[in-house]
Amino acid sequence: MTKFIPVSEPTITEKEIEYVMQAVKSGWVSSLGEYINKFEDGFAKFVGTKYALTVANGTVGLHLALVSLGIKEGDEVIIPDLTFIATANAVKYTGAKPVFADIDIETWCISVEDIERKITRRTKAIIPVHLYGHPADMNPIMEIAKKYNLYIIEDCAEAHGAEYKGKKVGSIGHCGVFSFYGNKIITTGEGGMITTNDEKLYEKAKYLRDHAMSKEKRYWHTEIGYNYRMTNIQAALGLAQLERINEIIQKKRQVFEWYKEGLKDLEGIKLNPEKEWAKNVYWMVCLVNENFDEEKRKDFMKKLKEKGIDTRPFFYPCSMMPMYKKDGFINPASYKIYKKGINLPSSYNLTFDDVSYICRTIKEFI
Ligand SMILES: Cc1ncc(COP(=O)(O)O)c(C=O)c1O
Repeated sequence: MTKFIPVSEPTITEKEIEYVMQAVKSGWVSSLGEYINKFEDGFAKFVGTKYALTVANGTVGLHLALVSLGIKEGDEVIIPDLTFIATANAVKYTGAKPVFADIDIETWCISVEDIERKITRRTKAIIPVHLYGHPADMNPIMEIAKKYNLYIIEDCAEAHGAEYKGKKVGSIGHCGVFSFYGNKIITTGEGGMITTNDEKLYEKAKYLRDHAMSKEKRYWHTEIGYNYRMTNIQAALGLAQLERINEIIQKKRQVFEWYKEGLKDLEGIKLNPEKEWAKNVYWMVCLVNENFDEEKRKDFMKKLKEKGIDTRPFFYPCSMMPMYKKDGFINPASYKIYKKGINLPSSYNLTFDDVSYICRTIKEFI
């Protein structure tokens, strides 16, 4: 039988099992406990921010960040069109309107020029997404934020440890939001984290995360909050993963190098970018084929599947979805690239032989 190579699987060692067992045995199974504090402190140190706040997942992390910054109905938030739908939905949950900016054709992240075109008097924030592990071009985005008095929430769900000009993502905007879903660089099963240097924002998010309970008076609530907390068990898994994160990122970069070497003489193919100012963590190894359309790509993915190689299509532009669609609206770069890209197996667990096999098979079908 052909071996099955998934796009992504977590890397779990004895350390993760030990920490999770300790958390369970301690009886601190909900959202209080030593692992929550250790995971938050360790993550803040890793990213280089003063504060880090655990949350139940990346989607609610984005929602909580937006609400804590006062984003509400009538506001507009600019996000890249090419991203996972959570970025758009989190904006929608606040009552604000997600405005879809096009992507930069080289980095696949939000286009700085198009952000400026899409600013109106209602614009309150921008969410740059560090897509597939590559940072967005943050300096010009921060300049726009200053010029127009906007908040910047970095969506770092796919880019733990990625760097922009030597700075870790999640430490550049007003805050960063991470996801620890099972396929992410590090995982807590489900989970997320907000990182920030802003004490007021941190305190507000922490308070809203816990049903906006008064600090002075227990079970007294003066506004509507949420239960967006992570459990101590999840944080135990997260801490063990965090202690291995540099090794995990190094391996992801190694896997990418193997692909780069293995596919170097294929024409019309592009793999992930890495700008001179960036450190890419290659959350997903991406292959873009100039000759693909949706049909050809589907056929190619099916052939790889028959050889035991799992792949995923690129995200569809959010503005194509029925909830967000507007007649005649198109972002040229996003609409061009989405149908040409796939994600290849990208796990920590891949061996050189696995990647060689995948590259040989790809060459056979392209
Ligand atoms: C870009 C992006 N933003 C947000 C999320 C939401 O994270 P979660 O799945 O933890 O809710 C994800 C991932 O799943 C993502 O890829």
